[in-house]
Amino acid sequence: MLNVSQSDLGNLEALLLNKSGNVPLHNRFRALFTLKALKSDEAVRIISKGFQDPSALLKHELAYCLGQMKNAAALPILESTLANEQEDPMVRHEAAEAMGAISLTSSLPVLKKYLNDTNRTVRETCDIAIAKIEWDHSEEGQRHLASKPTEPRTYTSVDPAPPTSGLLAGRVGTATVSSVEELRSKLLDTQLPLFERYRAMFALRNVGTPSAVDALAAGFSDDSALFKHEIAFVFGQLLSPHSVPALLQVLQNPQELAMVRHEAAEALGGIATPEVLPYLKEYMTREDAPVVVRESCQVALDMYEYENSDQFQYANGLDGTR
Ligand SMILES: [Fe+2]
Ligand SMILES: [Fe+2]
Repeated sequence: MLNVSQSDLGNLEALLLNKSGNVPLHNRFRALFTLKALKSDEAVRIISKGFQDPSALLKHELAYCLGQMKNAAALPILESTLANEQEDPMVRHEAAEAMGAISLTSSLPVLKKYLNDTNRTVRETCDIAIAKIEWDHSEEGQRHLASKPTEPRTYTSVDPAPPTSGLLAGRVGTATVSSVEELRSKLLDTQLPLFERYRAMFALRNVGTPSAVDALAAGFSDDSALFKHEIAFVFGQLLSPHSVPALLQVLQNPQELAMVRHEAAEALGGIATPEVLPYLKEYMTREDAPVVVRESCQVALDMYEYENSDQFQYANGLDGTR
C-alpha cells in the first residue's frame, strides 16, 4: 500500500471533487486513479463523496474504481447508487458490477432486488454479478483463488467473470485454433447465460491473437448494450491495432447506445495509433455526440498526451478505465 500524508489526501480530495471549480476532468480522473491505488478506507471515503457530481462518466468511473479496490467499506455507497433510479443507468450498472468485484455473499440479496429493474443494462449486470459471486464462492472458484498462477497475469483487473474453465490461466501458447472457435461460438450463443458468454469473452481476451480479436469483434452485432460495451472494454485492455476498424465503427454509429460508444472511445484512446487520433479529436467536440462520448474522447486524448510526455505513467496501467 502506498504511503501518503493527510495533506496529500486533502489535495487529492480537492482535485477529485473539483473544489476549486476549475479542475479539468482528466485531472480529476488522475486523482481518482491515485486514490484507487491507495485502496484504503480513507480513499474509499473520499471517492464516495464524488457521487454528487453531474458527470455520469466520472461517477461510473468512481464506482468501477471502488470495485477494483475490493474494499467492503464501499458497499453502502454502491448499494445506494444502484438503488437510485434517478441515476444514469451506466453509473448504476457500474455500482452493481463493483459489488460483484468485491464479491461478498451479503450482496446477493441486494443484487437480486434489481433482476427485474426497468433498465436492461442494470438487470443484466445484476444477473452477471450474482453469478460471479456464486462462482467465486463455489468449489471451482475457491480452488482457483487458492492456486498460485504459474506465470504473471497480463491483466490485473478484477473481471466481471472468470475466463472459461480450462483457460483460467489464459495461457496463449495452449490456445489452439479449435479453442478460439469454441470460445467464439460460446461468446455468440445468445441461448447461453450472459455469465458464460462473458467467460468466453475473457478467455478470448487472454488468447489475444488476431483471430481472437475477430471473434470478439463479432460480438458487436449483439443486441445487448452491456455485452457490447464489455467487448469494447476488453479491446481497451488488449490494445490490438487489429480491433481499430470495429471500434471506429462503434464510435461513429449514432444508433449505438452512448455507453457502448464511450467504451469504444476509451479503447481507441488506449490504442492511439496515428489513424485513431483524428477521430478522437473530432468526437471530442461533435455537438451531435452524447456528452459521455465527448468526455471520453477528452480523457482519452489527455491520457495519450500524458503517456507520451515524460510525466508519470497512469497508475492503472492495463486495468484500463471503464
Ligand atoms: Fe461498465
Ligand atoms: Fe465505461
